[in-house]
Amino acid sequence: MSEHFIGLDVSTTASKAVAIDASGAVVATASHDHQLDTPRPLWSEQDPAEWWRASCASLRQVAREVPQGSIAALGLTGQMHGLTALDTRDEPLRPAILWNDQRSAAECEAITEAIGAERLYRLIGSRIFPGFTAPKVAWLREHEPEIYQRIAQVLLPKDYVRFLLSGERVTDVADGSGMALMDIGARDWSAEMLDALAIPRDWLPALAESQEVCAEVSPGGAAATGLPVGTRIVGGAGDQPAGGVGSGVVSAGQLSLAMGTSGVAYAINDRYEPEPQGRLHTFCGPIPGTWFSMGVMLSAAGGLRWLRDALAPDREFDELGALAEAVPPGAEGLLFAPWLSGERHPHPDPLARGAFVGLTLRHDLGHMVRAVMEGVAFGIRESLELLQAQGLDPSDAVIQGGAANSPLWRQLTTDIMDLPLYRVNTSEGAAFGAAILAAVGAGAYPDISAACGAMVQRLDESLPQPELVARYRDIYPVYRRLYPSLEPLFHKLAQLDA
Ligand code: XUL
Repeated sequence: MSEHFIGLDVSTTASKAVAIDASGAVVATASHDHQLDTPRPLWSEQDPAEWWRASCASLRQVAREVPQGSIAALGLTGQMHGLTALDTRDEPLRPAILWNDQRSAAECEAITEAIGAERLYRLIGSRIFPGFTAPKVAWLREHEPEIYQRIAQVLLPKDYVRFLLSGERVTDVADGSGMALMDIGARDWSAEMLDALAIPRDWLPALAESQEVCAEVSPGGAAATGLPVGTRIVGGAGDQPAGGVGSGVVSAGQLSLAMGTSGVAYAINDRYEPEPQGRLHTFCGPIPGTWFSMGVMLSAAGGLRWLRDALAPDREFDELGALAEAVPPGAEGLLFAPWLSGERHPHPDPLARGAFVGLTLRHDLGHMVRAVMEGVAFGIRESLELLQAQGLDPSDAVIQGGAANSPLWRQLTTDIMDLPLYRVNTSEGAAFGAAILAAVGAGAYPDISAACGAMVQRLDESLPQPELVARYRDIYPVYRRLYPSLEPLFHKLAQLDA
């Protein structure tokens, strides 16, 4: 009987399970939604019970659809950085504080001051952002001391699900990197960070490599999910590195542009080389002996959804694409600043906002759609340039996420990047990558590159069109001036709005 491998993605919106066979064919998928809570502006929380409920439902459904006894291993992935604080009875002490929560800006400043910026960036591979786990622990100490005093464990979202499935407290090095408590170069917890934050080592889980078997499904986990007792669980990875594996970006020099709700330019390196000013996240890679660097835009394809919901809720995305297709490149002098959710890279500013600049009476919905598509692609180009300054010299890149489904958005991104962009045969993203890691952990392939070589295939490719490359090369410098020009206004507006 052929073996099956399951990937589980505990994302912000849903827990999604995917079962694949050894050839990479998807044989079952299931997804159950999570509720998200925004108790105050800029706060973002989720009840960890939501993840468990939705994960159990999705795993149960997928386990029913594959032949009994064929599940060889499970890989976990999920939203990164979320803080799940548990007490001595392993109960969550409060709702989890998520990756897109902005409450801990003051704590980030204090940590940067305490460690020193240069040292901090070298140690944790990045500037420290309010979304990361460590500053949120510091926030609890300051603002919810009664909760802070009862913390016995700190886990990331997917690792809380692993704990309920297996009883093991483990994270993988790629997701653990996003806690801002690791010495990324050493692939281990950093005594220096733990001391500076007064976080006891025993609050933290053990560390595993992404393909390493580190737990197995317990009788309790089996009863809740329908997975057999003893099913092996591999380390897995955060959603971005797992998505990299799922699209075959696993060796130095390869590049992925993921343009979903958020936008991410992601590349693998076989040395640890953090961006000196911390303007990228450089974290442990999901392949042993590698690191990845990524630039993250907090709002990418999500910008077009916002525009549609605000101005044309009855239109399909295809219709909007057709309107934009009729508009010339550059949208006749209309630019869009894509920072609808604040920004991380290359403008680390939670108060950054979106803007249309250059509106005239001539501009209509089609111009606005085109400007949004172009603004998002310009934003990703800024991250790509940071990766290039690090020595990345890609000959092409994989494009994925919602934007990749629009032929126009794909082509104009190709022209703005001046790089051939290809799509791959897998559309299940991070969950698919986690299933690949499970296949390697179960021994179906000798390593992750071999597994991706067999399971991920290239589909179509779009090529840069010289005339449009030249046109966008003229517009890009004007886009680059948007942030420095608007930044003082964003900060003033945030004060007025407070
Ligand atoms: C990565 C990041 C997001 C979250 C949610 O740094 O914050 O990708 O993992 O998807």
